[in-house]
Amino acid sequence: MNVLVIGGAGYIGSHMVKLLGRRGCDVTTLDNLSNGHRDAILFGSFVEGDVADRFLLAQLLETGNFDAVMHFASFIQVGESMKHPAKYYENNVSNTLNLLGAMLTANVKRFIFSSTAATFGSPQYTPMDEMHPQNPINPYGRSKLMIEKVLDDYDRAYGLRSVCLRYFNAAGADPDGELGERHNPETHLIPLVLQTASGLRSDIEVFGRDYDTPDGTCVRDYIHINDLCEAHWLALQSLMRGAGSQRYNLGNGNGFSVQEVIDAAKRVTGRSIAIRDAPRRDGDPARLVADSTLARRQLGWEPKITDLETIVRHAWRWEQSRAKPN
Ligand code: UFG
Repeated sequence: MNVLVIGGAGYIGSHMVKLLGRRGCDVTTLDNLSNGHRDAILFGSFVEGDVADRFLLAQLLETGNFDAVMHFASFIQVGESMKHPAKYYENNVSNTLNLLGAMLTANVKRFIFSSTAATFGSPQYTPMDEMHPQNPINPYGRSKLMIEKVLDDYDRAYGLRSVCLRYFNAAGADPDGELGERHNPETHLIPLVLQTASGLRSDIEVFGRDYDTPDGTCVRDYIHINDLCEAHWLALQSLMRGAGSQRYNLGNGNGFSVQEVIDAAKRVTGRSIAIRDAPRRDGDPARLVADSTLARRQLGWEPKITDLETIVRHAWRWEQSRAKPN
């Protein structure tokens, strides 16, 4: 199989490139390296470039003979999207439209799209299945939902078949220790907690202790990066077999609180982790947990690394390997 991975130098994309390479696929990564890292691309060929570059996209897609495209290149910070919505609509919507246009011109008609739990907005019930109403409450979630709608229309009109995978909280790192999370700035809980354990940060802020949850801190569904990539693999297989477009929520179905994540990190690292209580962060729902029954039933997806300590252990090994000089 021949797959174009847009954003293959980033956190999720690089793990995906490794999985595809290991399974014998031809992989081409397109990445502008604005957030990704060249040394995270362990397989296939690399083209440095931007999804905003229509000429490059056309050239790549018309000559690449790709069976499918996976699209990981987007901006992902909810808070930033509130302050700079244009950045989100220009990249996550407009550039994705460029990409889809170039795919149609080149007659590449299988697409796997990184969507998000943020397309649902405030949960009306949990765990959240695919029937949950989608009312995003920030530009990030809206930008992803817009592309989901575009993909419905492109399927109907142009026969472009897509799988939208709505991630809950992607977490952990490559179990072999070769890859992991390297955002700059880092905003995600697990790497921040581990940077506190390693002494890179003085403390971890806990955003709110007065939520309606068992210990008062927010509950999230942390899904191991390898399980997430496995779902993309199964989605690719299903498109290759001729299945129709589909949307899936991806999580373990287990919620862990911010305090439980910190406690797990203390056990895994054997270090003390200083905590600072801080106000609630805008736009954080109390509890986000996925019901992934549909992905399990239709794709045969079964998350394997569901234990929070193992997820944190893999992330810790990565964090420590980065701290060491080469
Ligand atoms: N948190 C803290 N302190 C920190 C960082 C995070 O207490 O320093 C808390 C947050 O308030 C939240 C939990 O840890 O309750 C997880 O926060 P993350 O920033 O790691 O992840 P989010 O749940 O905010 O984000 C995830 C995805 C987004 C997606 C969002 C949907 O990473 O892409 O879920 O709500 F938009």
